[in-house]
Amino acid sequence: MTYPVDLSRKPEVSPHFDEATNTITYIVKDPNSDHCAIVDSVLDIDYAAGRITYDAADALIAEIKERGLILDWIIETHVHADHLSAAPYLQEKLGGKIGVGEKIMVVQETFGKVFNEGTEFQRDGSQFDTLFKDGDTYMIGTMPAFAMFTPGHTPACMVHVIGDAAFVGDTLFMPDGGSARADFPGGDAGVLYDSIQKVLSLPDEMRLFMCHDYGPNGRDIQWETTVGDEKKHNIHVGEGKTREDFIKFRTERDATLGMPKLIIPSLQVNMRAGEVPTDHDGNPMLKVPINAI
Ligand SMILES: [Fe+2]
Repeated sequence: MTYPVDLSRKPEVSPHFDEATNTITYIVKDPNSDHCAIVDSVLDIDYAAGRITYDAADALIAEIKERGLILDWIIETHVHADHLSAAPYLQEKLGGKIGVGEKIMVVQETFGKVFNEGTEFQRDGSQFDTLFKDGDTYMIGTMPAFAMFTPGHTPACMVHVIGDAAFVGDTLFMPDGGSARADFPGGDAGVLYDSIQKVLSLPDEMRLFMCHDYGPNGRDIQWETTVGDEKKHNIHVGEGKTREDFIKFRTERDATLGMPKLIIPSLQVNMRAGEVPTDHDGNPMLKVPINAI
């Protein structure tokens, strides 16, 4: 697959860091128009209390309104297991199309079973407005963008490349953070390694924007690096690290990791494009399957 890389387009990228989940949401603006996209939004949840609030999403809405922007796209790089998406709330307030990778169907099939969702839960991705295939292009105002299929962390992960900026989701962390786990259902360390190589085959000067940062070794939170920097310095896949090394390391490390705190609510909401499921009376309601994940 040859991707339509165009480094001459330099989108304005506005990061929003969510302290509760260490997620970075981006507003990505076309420099030649008022159009923008949001990548990987966050809905606030106090899971212990079963309470959902909208502070993170409202901050995005406030910025978009203040700057007079038009929202074309609400992009999900994948079905996140550590935070809920605010996509439908943002769409209701601002418009825009919700897009995710077409392999969302695989994720819906897997977790439709885990959560015993029954036949009313569609497993065809129809909850989303657009399902991206590898290499699919789309526009943000006058600025072309494309999706790159990068499975491994999950089966539906996509990296979105917008001009000279790539939004890597959970394929990569900052160089000193390495990479994300590959042990969720449908994840695969070898496949993740191959996907990371695809990202690293983009031009060295391509800006890379992370979905998460945990400030390893006590450093301040960071979210931006470049392909060149990751190639040289990434502690899991940088210079000299082989596929075999990576699979061995990743598999051993993943076996020691506990589940993300919000995996149970996140999957139920995010596999529905951010809609909270409802009970038979139409009330918002989440399930906790026992010993199933
Ligand atoms: Fe993730």
